[in-house]
Amino acid sequence: MKISGVDLLDLKKEYGTPLYIFDASHIKRNIDGYLNNFKSNQFETEVLFASKAFNVKEMIRILIEKGMSLDCVSKGELYTALKVGFDPKKVYYHGNNKSREEIEYIISNGVGTIVCDNLQELELIDVIANELNKDVNVMFRMNVGVDAHTHKFIITAHVDSKFGVLHDSEDYKKIREVLAKSKHIKFVGFHSHIGSQIFDLNAFKSAAERLVGYCKDFDYPLVLNLGGGYGVHYTNDDKPIPFDIVSKTLIKTVEDEINKQNIKIKKLAIEPGRSIVAEAGYTLYTVGFTKKTPNKEYYFIDGGMTDNIRPALYQAKYDATIVGKENEKKDHIVTIAGKCCESGDLIIEGIALPKAESGDLLLTYTTGAYGYSMSSNYNKALTPAVVFVEDGKPKLAVRRMTYDELIEREL
Ligand code: LLP
Repeated sequence: MKISGVDLLDLKKEYGTPLYIFDASHIKRNIDGYLNNFKSNQFETEVLFASKAFNVKEMIRILIEKGMSLDCVSKGELYTALKVGFDPKKVYYHGNNKSREEIEYIISNGVGTIVCDNLQELELIDVIANELNKDVNVMFRMNVGVDAHTHKFIITAHVDSKFGVLHDSEDYKKIREVLAKSKHIKFVGFHSHIGSQIFDLNAFKSAAERLVGYCKDFDYPLVLNLGGGYGVHYTNDDKPIPFDIVSKTLIKTVEDEINKQNIKIKKLAIEPGRSIVAEAGYTLYTVGFTKKTPNKEYYFIDGGMTDNIRPALYQAKYDATIVGKENEKKDHIVTIAGKCCESGDLIIEGIALPKAESGDLLLTYTTGAYGYSMSSNYNKALTPAVVFVEDGKPKLAVRRMTYDELIEREL
């Protein structure tokens, strides 16, 4: 079996397993899908990659090549991007609890826009901007109160969310006072992110309607950022909406809304993460032992929750195949279990696969988002390597951790 012309057996030989594999041409196609369709003749548009989904230098290089903007939520994500020459002006920096040190780092590195999450943060940004004598563009993350139907851990806009400010709140009034007095803060617009792995575009419609309404508080055209959250295909139960339709629907929704409310906006931005990388990513494992219990059959793999925490954390579902046995009868209903000392370390439950032998390769699909970026060293597992493949050629992006690296910070 090959991905982008590269044989999986060769990848196993060269880089070992578990191994994260990214099809670079697929990532580029996804980016183009947004860039080519997220356009309006009524306002400027901007597409950011939400780098929390997958932030490594090689990914950032692709974003640079494509002219994408970037959403960072930590100093580490920003640091990685700056190291490979990403233009800081194209960065939007998020986070509900930015530290003084972080804000100093953001401002002194000339980050384009800070997405401010609360009143205390705004006050701190004001102090630091004055100390550094630098102007900063600030957007506000609003809690638009739209309940998206997704897993409760990845919903972000219910009223008690830790993220964002409610428009109808004392804090919002005070924010406007701080903005009116600030010498260095330029308020540029509103942001909202209502959740992740969402298939219902109506949820975005309500969010857009509210953001446009908030623009009436300011007498100049603002930037609106609708966040990310567009769902992807993990299993056949998921029916994602194609990029062109997502893009065009969001544009049309906002165009209709600004015309209805008679508002002019400067720019509309979105920040997809998952939908750009998820389906372009795969994880390759080696099957070890297999086990039958009275009610189950297990295939054990050489990775698990350390390289993919999503099934344990969100009951996320995945699809998989046994490499080289794609056309064999899928007459075993099995549970794919990892090697962590944890009963919940199950990657897939109840999948139909052919009989596997020890040494077979198992490939899981759609692991490109929040896999590597949420990996851990639980049980002192080594972080797997990441390889990009394109036009028949592999390119190592992250080499596998070594045991010396695993303990190198321990004194
Ligand atoms: N913008 C903001 C402000 C966000 O918080 C997020 C995701 C995104 C954009 C990108 O959302 P996406 O297009 O990737 O859905 N770890 C969870 C997902 C957490 C999402 C956090 N925020 C998972 O593995 O499902």
